[in-house]
Amino acid sequence: MLKMRARMNGKTVLITGASSGIGRAAALAFAREGASLALVARNAARLDAVAEEVRALGVAAEPYLADTADAAQIGAAVEAACARFGALDAAICNAGIYLRCPAEALTMAQIRTVMETNFFGTLNTIYAVLPGMRARRAGSIVVTCSMDGKKGVPPDAAYVASKFALNGFQQVLRQEMRGSGVYVGTVFPSRTDTPQIAHVACPGITPKMAPELVANAIVTCVRKRKKEVLVPAGPCKLLVLGDALSPSLGDWMVRTFQLNGVAPGESETPRH
Ligand SMILES: NC(=O)c1ccc[n+]([C@@H]2O[C@H](COP(=O)([O-])OP(=O)(O)OC[C@H]3O[C@@H](n4cnc5c(N)ncnc54)[C@H](OP(=O)(O)O)[C@@H]3O)[C@@H](O)[C@H]2O)c1
Repeated sequence: MLKMRARMNGKTVLITGASSGIGRAAALAFAREGASLALVARNAARLDAVAEEVRALGVAAEPYLADTADAAQIGAAVEAACARFGALDAAICNAGIYLRCPAEALTMAQIRTVMETNFFGTLNTIYAVLPGMRARRAGSIVVTCSMDGKKGVPPDAAYVASKFALNGFQQVLRQEMRGSGVYVGTVFPSRTDTPQIAHVACPGITPKMAPELVANAIVTCVRKRKKEVLVPAGPCKLLVLGDALSPSLGDWMVRTFQLNGVAPGESETPRH
């Protein structure tokens, strides 16, 4: 335990979307490694509660209220965190929303709302932390993407589009940052048991996983400077491989393993 804590002692990690689910679990996982935490989200009560949980593990934690879709708000939060902690060693860009709606029924306003948080909100966070990390030639930027950013799963078209956009951006940023001292990584979780998809039932063959599994993957991503981490690794790599071999095979895997799940009012997607 002491050896574990030493690994991130004296380091500061900023996490967006820290008031719930994967972000909360990541905050606790980094705290167990000894890191100080700058916690960002919009809901003050939930964020304060997570900050208390983190402090109970014996490390410093500060909540910062910000809507990541607003560049000025996340910029001010990053500035305040840097003033409090000195500098950020890692930023976990994790805030995100989910929209479940067949592509045909989506409105442009709905699609733009999802893009504003999942894509532009993440970019707002990256552009807020990047100059400081570039100047110090040190720092890690890790984005919580989604397996929906590797293979499109119905009825998630707007969400899938936002996560594919993030995946593409991250692929380029990490290559451009090579040799700069700034490390860029992306985590691709499969369905995870958080409030975001509480309304979606997943079949026994592909159950939701605990947010702690994703949190550990995020910590590993930072510590081992992994370019990409798929969670859970084996099944997700098989899906990516199947889809690369043939889109028909990829679509068949989505149907057969019922990766779309079922929400109230929906009938199960026909298997054939
Ligand atoms: N659950 C899954 O199955 C799954 C799978 C793959 C990837 N992901 C991704 O994992 C990330 C975390 O999701 P989760 O499952 O942990 O969901 P969650 O429990 O609903 O948590 C989402 C977090 O994002 C914050 N947030 C949302 N919009 C925000 C905004 N505009 N500004 C600041 N904070 C915002 C929320 O806090 P406030 O409401 O307090 O602002 C909350 O802390 C998301 O990017 C999600 O897309 C989730």
